[in-house]
Amino acid sequence: MEKTTVQAGSDIALVKYWGKKDKVLRLPANGSISMILNSLNSLTTVEFQSNLEKDQITINGEVEDGEALRVVKHLDRIRSLAKEKNLINKDVFAKVVSENDFPKSTGLSSSGSGFAALTLAAVKAIGLNLSEKELSILARQGSGTACRCVCGGFVEWLDGNTSEESYSQSFARPEDFVIRDLVAVVSEDKKDLSSTEGHDLAETSLFFAARQEKIQEKLLQVKQVILQKDFTTLGEIVEAEALEFHSILLTSRPTILLFYPGTIEVMQAVRQLRKIGVPAYFTINTGFNIHVLTLPEYEQEVLRMLQSLPSVQKVISSGVGEKPKYLDKHLF
Ligand code: ADE
Repeated sequence: MEKTTVQAGSDIALVKYWGKKDKVLRLPANGSISMILNSLNSLTTVEFQSNLEKDQITINGEVEDGEALRVVKHLDRIRSLAKEKNLINKDVFAKVVSENDFPKSTGLSSSGSGFAALTLAAVKAIGLNLSEKELSILARQGSGTACRCVCGGFVEWLDGNTSEESYSQSFARPEDFVIRDLVAVVSEDKKDLSSTEGHDLAETSLFFAARQEKIQEKLLQVKQVILQKDFTTLGEIVEAEALEFHSILLTSRPTILLFYPGTIEVMQAVRQLRKIGVPAYFTINTGFNIHVLTLPEYEQEVLRMLQSLPSVQKVISSGVGEKPKYLDKHLF
């Protein structure tokens, strides 16, 4: 069994996934659209070793990470598939080492890139050969966002009513629409709420049903404006979508308030930039760190503005990323 290393990019959802039709299978309440990011990566090495008595997992240098149980469950899914295909006849355990080059558990979707890298690396390491669709279905069961992060460029996750129908596919390549995402890190605190817990509260918001009524229309429109390379319309929809999404969080029971003062400071500054003619739009996931989308020719101006804000600790500048890559250089 071959030691395998995969690098996968995180993504930023342009139309968000919130709420689930099926918790165990992680079937989302609605489809979603994202772009993969090339500057926020997880790098994961997996090797199945016959001398191990249990999986040995190290994430960002920590052996006993809270994520370990979720990773073991995911490896169990991969072992089950390998047994079905007669690649193994008894459990064989894995050594897994993973590093993220961006802050974890701060709303930057590290579990998306982490579980995408883990899925691809473990599948190959155990000797399975799966299509991109099968990898996406498998990754989804570890982390919803990971279902998108096995693809590259601009990606749509089809909600589906069964496990086989709920997977992602790319609908535009990174070079088809060159835009930049400047991620303003206002804190590296661990967020209070895990996305998994938050999803369960979606339906407690009075606004959730109203969102669901219009979401299909929004998905179609966002896909269309990306294909038309219409940055202004995309930005307007994406910023309003982020605020709509947070209005669901704010009105859930219990209420969920994730913004930090720095988050709001960035929002206001982005709106000031637009007033002077700079095309910049924000979006934000379940966290306080905030993404600012712009066009390449305005990147330096947006960067300077973000770096001048007292609450911005650092800015990660990213383009649209390719699908995950297999690397020859391993972490152990
Ligand atoms: N959650 C956050 N980062 C992760 C990683 N690199 N691998 C698995 N799970 C993660």
